[in-house]
Amino acid sequence: MRVRILVASAVLFVSAVAVSSSALAAPARYEAETSPAVCSGTIDSNWTGFTGSGFCNGTNSTSGYAQFTVTAAAAGTATLGIRFANGTTTARPADVVVNGTTAQSTSFEGTGAWSTWVTKTLSVQVTAGSNTIRLNPTTSGGLANIDHLDFEAGGTTPAPGGLVGWAAQAGGTTGGAGGTTVTVSTFADLRTQAQSSGAKTILVNGMLSGSGTVEIAADKTIRGVGASAGISGTTLNIEDMKPANVIIQNMNIRGVRGNDAIQIENASHIWIDHNTMSSTIENDPDYYDGMLDITHGADYVTVSWNVVRNHWKTSLVGHSDGNAGEDRGHLRVTYHHNWFDRTFERSPRVRFGETVHVFNNYYSNINNNSASYAIASVMDAGLLVEGNVFENVQQACWSKSGYADSDPGRLVARDNSLTNSGPCEVDGTVAAIPYRYTADASGTVKASVTAGAGVGKI
Ligand code: GCU
Ligand code: CA
Repeated sequence: MRVRILVASAVLFVSAVAVSSSALAAPARYEAETSPAVCSGTIDSNWTGFTGSGFCNGTNSTSGYAQFTVTAAAAGTATLGIRFANGTTTARPADVVVNGTTAQSTSFEGTGAWSTWVTKTLSVQVTAGSNTIRLNPTTSGGLANIDHLDFEAGGTTPAPGGLVGWAAQAGGTTGGAGGTTVTVSTFADLRTQAQSSGAKTILVNGMLSGSGTVEIAADKTIRGVGASAGISGTTLNIEDMKPANVIIQNMNIRGVRGNDAIQIENASHIWIDHNTMSSTIENDPDYYDGMLDITHGADYVTVSWNVVRNHWKTSLVGHSDGNAGEDRGHLRVTYHHNWFDRTFERSPRVRFGETVHVFNNYYSNINNNSASYAIASVMDAGLLVEGNVFENVQQACWSKSGYADSDPGRLVARDNSLTNSGPCEVDGTVAAIPYRYTADASGTVKASVTAGAGVGKI
């Protein structure tokens, strides 16, 4: 943010949080140990890594089934994510029976250990309303241990590498698609093209340095060529446009002394993808300002597959405790598959926004001092933090405790992996995610993010 405003007193809100509604069903998780699910066997919790409070250990015979009762908003194709573990080396086949009719056969292969859980994805046809989905083992070995069923009806699967999350909602984000393509090799040209009107893809050749701001007009894609293009010394500013429809991709972006590197204010539909954003660690956290700040009621933003490294004030969502009027109901941001390395604060720090979705990110070495942290949900923001990996992180998440002068926010955490890290503090519930996405199991995230994030990968 440009001006730092400190507001000590918080305004309290008593209104209920809006329930999100959407044509798309949100992915719903049904735990095998929770009624109306039925487990013909025992509910156990002796093998770690399950979600909820346990898993179904079916009797080892063809009668040891697990059955889920799910609700579909509409008839059609549904995606099932069945999480299981099989500590033997023998696959355990089963029929998938939907509403009493066998829809297909599947097999739960050995996963290496009873505490190693794997998700199998299948598609079946369902009817509108309530459906039963039963896994009937077909050999005397019985079923694998079954943890849960993720169920999602309707919608289309996003293309691999394509836009996922909030920036794809409410009209989507296409940047300069359909317009002309220009290549710029000087800072002055970049500025001129960014400010020009109409849909345009601006290819950036080389590392351009400048000062002040680059004002980005609507319907632009700014994309670096190769692995060493980008900008330094300047703020990329996306402001006062709803929708802005801007994509920034494959750029090396440096922290800017005293200012934000990317500033998004009162603008919507923005995709920040596959960039490498880095600074240097100075003793003074305010030497640079934000790396990627999203403020003043900004909305529908996706931040994906970036490397963000060596920065203090990484990504602020909502700049002031006193700005509820402009921010509440907005600041909807998805962060996924980013690598936050030595980003000592705000990855992100969110006020008011709901539901800010933080999934499948890799956080490393956020431990400069005892105040270092990765994620903070404050001022009644709502965050879903899932499938992330935290390694050497002083505090993975703040929520219930608030942070600094800010009141608490809400935060739901699931399937995160923490190594040598302080806790991911949770509090309350958050509105459902209205879009279709697949969260990878946390065990695969470090490898996929370190291989796929940053410049030179698309
Ligand atoms: C072991 C294991 C159980 C599992 C069972 C099986 O007893 O502890 O969790 O269900 O094997 O072979 O099905
Ligand atoms: Ca068993």
